[in-house]
Order: sequence, then C-alpha cells, then structure tokens
Amino acid sequence: MTCLKALILAGGFATRLRPLSCSRPKTLFPIVNKPLLEWIFQRLANDGVTEAIMATNALTQFYIKQQAPSKHGLKIKFSVDPAKTPLGTGGPIKKAEKLIGHDEPFIVLNGDIFADLSYRELISAHNKTGALATIALCKVEDPCRYGVAELSEDNHIKRFIEKPTIDKAPSNLINAGVYVLSPKVFDYIPAKKPVSIEREVFPRLAEEGKLFGHRINGLWIDIGKPGEFLQTNKIILDAEAKNLKLKRAKNFELKTPVAIEKDAMIGENSVIGPYAILGKNITVGKNSQISNSVIFPYVEIGEACQIEGALIGEGAKIGKHVKIGSGCIIGDLAKIKDNLTLSEGVTVCPAKEVTENILNPKGNC
Ligand code: GTP
Repeated sequence: MTCLKALILAGGFATRLRPLSCSRPKTLFPIVNKPLLEWIFQRLANDGVTEAIMATNALTQFYIKQQAPSKHGLKIKFSVDPAKTPLGTGGPIKKAEKLIGHDEPFIVLNGDIFADLSYRELISAHNKTGALATIALCKVEDPCRYGVAELSEDNHIKRFIEKPTIDKAPSNLINAGVYVLSPKVFDYIPAKKPVSIEREVFPRLAEEGKLFGHRINGLWIDIGKPGEFLQTNKIILDAEAKNLKLKRAKNFELKTPVAIEKDAMIGENSVIGPYAILGKNITVGKNSQISNSVIFPYVEIGEACQIEGALIGEGAKIGKHVKIGSGCIIGDLAKIKDNLTLSEGVTVCPAKEVTENILNPKGNC
C-alpha cells in the first residue's frame, strides 16, 4: 500500500450540541481533556494511515487550525465546502476527489464518533470482497435511532432502513459512520452539490450488490447529543483512569475516577468526582462539589457550589453557593451570579449573565 488516506467529515453544524457547538466544532469537543480529533488522528496513525483530509466548512477549518490538535505524524490537508452550500455527507467526498486520488481504496469517517476499531481490518475486509464500499457495522441495543442494515449471509448489505420501529428493524447492526470506499465510488456522487451518502449513494450501491458490511466489536459512541458527549467522557475516563496522573489532593478530596489538569486551583474541603473532568486553568473555591460533569478550560467556580451532571463551557464564571442540576449546559463565557439554583436540564446561552434562579429548563437564551 502506498499512501493510505482518510477523509474526516467535520463540516456539519452540530445543532444538537448547541450552545457548546456555537464556538467549536463537534470534532474538537474534549474527551477527557483531549480533542476528539486527536483521538481519531492517533487511531488512524496507529493503523497505518499517512494522510488525513479534513472535509470542513470555513469556520471549522479556522477552529481546527487555531486549536492545532496533535497530528500523530499524519499529513493533514483541508477540503472546504463552499460558503453557501454545505455539501452534506457525500458531496465533500466528491469535492476531495483530487486530493484523495484514484490509486487505492480510502477511509471515510464521521468526525463526531469515538470508535475503537481496526481500520486495517476494515480495509482488508474491503479488499477481500471486491465491494465498492464497505461499511463498519456496530451492534447496538436500540437500533431505532439509526440506519439499520439488512445483511445477507455473505455480508452483502441488501438495504438500510432509516430509524425503523423495533418490530421493523431487520437487525441491530447500525451504520457506524466509518467506511472504506473504492475510487470508483466518485462516479456515484454528483459534483458541486449537497449529497447524502447514506440516502443517495449507499442505496444505489446496495441495489447493484456492491455494498458490504463489516462488524466491529469495540467501543463505539457518537457524541452527537449532550448526554452522549458526557457519557463518552465517562466511559473513556473509566478506560484511561490508570494512565492519568492525578493532581495530589492537598486540602480537598478527589473521588476517582476523575481527570484534572495540573494547573487547576481547588479550594479546601471541595470534593471533586467521581466522574469530574476539569480542563486546563480551572479555579474552584472552597467547599464546592463537582461530579459527573465536564468542565471546559478557564472556568471559575466559586465557593460552596454544587455541580452534578452538567457541562460547563469555556471561560464560564459560576458565583458562590450556586447549584447546577443534572443535564444543565452552560454556554462559554456565561456568568451565573451568587446564590442561584439552575434546576435540571437548564441551558444557558454563551456570554449570558444569569441573575435569578432558573427552575424551568426552557427559554434562557
Ligand atoms: P447535528 O446538526 O447535531 O445533526 O449534527 P451534524 O449535522 O454536524 O452531524 P451529523 O451527525 O449529521 O453528520 C455526521 C458527520 O458529517 C459529522 O462529523 C459532521 O460534521 C459531518 N457533516 C455533516 N454535514 C456536513 C456538511 O455539509 N459538510 C461537511 N464537510 N461535513 C458534514
């Protein structure tokens, strides 16, 4: 194999992760204090990929260049959707045709999934069958939210059924958002327009008997919604716990598993964890409790706060004696004044100043 390439789709708008996605693309969301994209690069590089092409929009390209995640030795190129026309999940593949070239099959993956899979295995499965596309299929308990594959015995995909009811689901194998494509697939994608690979390209390939599935067994999570993003952090925190160097607790308590960057300042008698992930430059006052939460960098949390099950965006300032309930999302740079309660599921917009209790989850932007 000469040069193994991967195209990473990362130009969507991540509407389900708002407001945190207003100022960062999904692929840069932190998973245990490392951008998801860095985890992806690492896995691709380990499996012999040499070049990653980022299919983005202009803003995503800007954020990725600005954050400059570690490349793990990969050569990185960008292919940017036209400003007025997001190209969907198929159009960016056609747009990157010249960068990808026609020499070898290549990998395409969604930039918003955490997948512990072997790309090598996926490629060798692809090369054995003569398929034009091989889709990684992941077994899930509830397939009804996804595209579900109907497979024949030799792993041909007969069709996908989008979001079926449980009685109509032909299997519990879903499209994991990772594919190996042969260059011939470029002929199936119209140029310069939005195309959905799932809805427009795969059905044609399936009809022609050129679409195969390959089951993957490792961890697979899509970080598309706030609960899934938090859950991904918790699962990876569990998996990584033994590799994490813990800050030595002086006058505060750490309940593992927990991840805290070295520069965190934590006040006495505070209890951090279990499942608290604190990014860089975080300050926590005394007597505060934080658990089951992801705290983005540069957040200040006052004394005697209780934060459980929340996502707190970068640079937010939380006053003293504040209670933040489960499912709350605090946008970047928001300010929550002293002595307030935000009950379950409250979302606060970026830079918003909250001066009163919010006991109703809606309408705070
Ligand atoms: P939601 O708005 O929350 O549904 O998210 P999304 O549209 O960003 O993500 P979705 O899960 O629908 O897309 C799967 C992957 O394709 C993600 O990694 C997206 O970033 C990417 N993607 C989606 N639409 C586009 C697009 O128009 N252009 C490019 N380049 N990538 C896209």
